[in-house]
Amino acid sequence: MTAGLPMTVPAAGLPARVRIHEVGPRDGLQNEKTAVPTDVKAEFVRRLVAAGLTTVEATSFVHPKWVPQLADAEELFPRVRDLPVRLPVLVPNERGLDRALALGAREVAVFASATESFARANLNRTVDEALAMFAPTVTRAVEAGLKVRGYLSMCFGDPWEGAVPVEQVVRVTKALADMGCDELSLGDTIGVATPGHVKALLAALNEAGVPTSRLAVHFHDTYGQALANAYAALEHGVTVFDASAGGLGGCPYAKSATGNLATEDLVWMFRGLGIETGVDLAALTDTSVWMADQLGRPSPSRTVRALSHKES
Ligand code: HMG
Ligand code: MG
Repeated sequence: MTAGLPMTVPAAGLPARVRIHEVGPRDGLQNEKTAVPTDVKAEFVRRLVAAGLTTVEATSFVHPKWVPQLADAEELFPRVRDLPVRLPVLVPNERGLDRALALGAREVAVFASATESFARANLNRTVDEALAMFAPTVTRAVEAGLKVRGYLSMCFGDPWEGAVPVEQVVRVTKALADMGCDELSLGDTIGVATPGHVKALLAALNEAGVPTSRLAVHFHDTYGQALANAYAALEHGVTVFDASAGGLGGCPYAKSATGNLATEDLVWMFRGLGIETGVDLAALTDTSVWMADQLGRPSPSRTVRALSHKES
């Protein structure tokens, strides 16, 4: 066993390589109480790329009053856009797309909800009104040659509505797929999923004609289930995993959403399974320790804590 890395013991039937969709600069920082300086955000993105992450969600072009933490998108994006990786940005509507296109974004994401309550809280719309807002946005983005991801929030449970029926998730996922989103990210916004539920949803989506190759998973670690859920998705054949460096994150419009699955915890598991991610775990951990210093509190990631622990 090399210091700072797990033993590699592969398990049968798993993918050889996966892609991590890093959401720390967006999903992580959107939830900070105070806005992080733009210089620090740009340095965070640069460090994540230097640590080997090939997809880094940089910021959001949403209404600045709704998410003031990311109101500096116009200042930030030009500072990072030439990095040689995928840099998706969130856009809720055509106004957001215009802002992203004006700055040369090459990849965008719209974000739907499987539930009415969260659609109202997050987008000030019903589910169908939100889909109607996304349709022209996605069409124009595709016409402009952009890659478009569709997020789906509250896929497993909702803080206002409780358990979310699988059919509800399937309907909205299919609508996003039919609209032209090439990748669909299934969000467990409040972290209530468990592995059997993950497998049941993935199977239902396949059954409805959405192939696993178009699916990504986005777990939050509220109840400590995120890594178990990621493993369940891996066994199902999913190869795109959202995670947030150091476990930063949540959602300002769902108070019960705590940290995202930490990228380091995920990379540790993949490394142990012999699955290629391209990520340098030591460099990534250093980045999260540095970011925790900027934020003035320790990272919640178990792997970051273990790897940065110094015996006294
Ligand atoms: P609204 O108040 O209904 O907006 O908000 P509107 O369409 O009525 O427009 C009102 C004014 O806002 C207009 O200006 C628009 O131009 C302006 P006026 O004509 O009055 O001068 N406006 C904008 N300005 C700048 N950029 C824009 C924009 N859009 C409208 N893009 C809206 C509707 C969708 C805009 C608002 O609800 C919003 O911005 N919501 C974003 C909330 C958000 O970012 N939440 C966090 C991300 S989702 C998440 O974290 C979940 C995820 O991680 C997955 C998971 O874990 O589940 C992805
Ligand atoms: Mg999220």
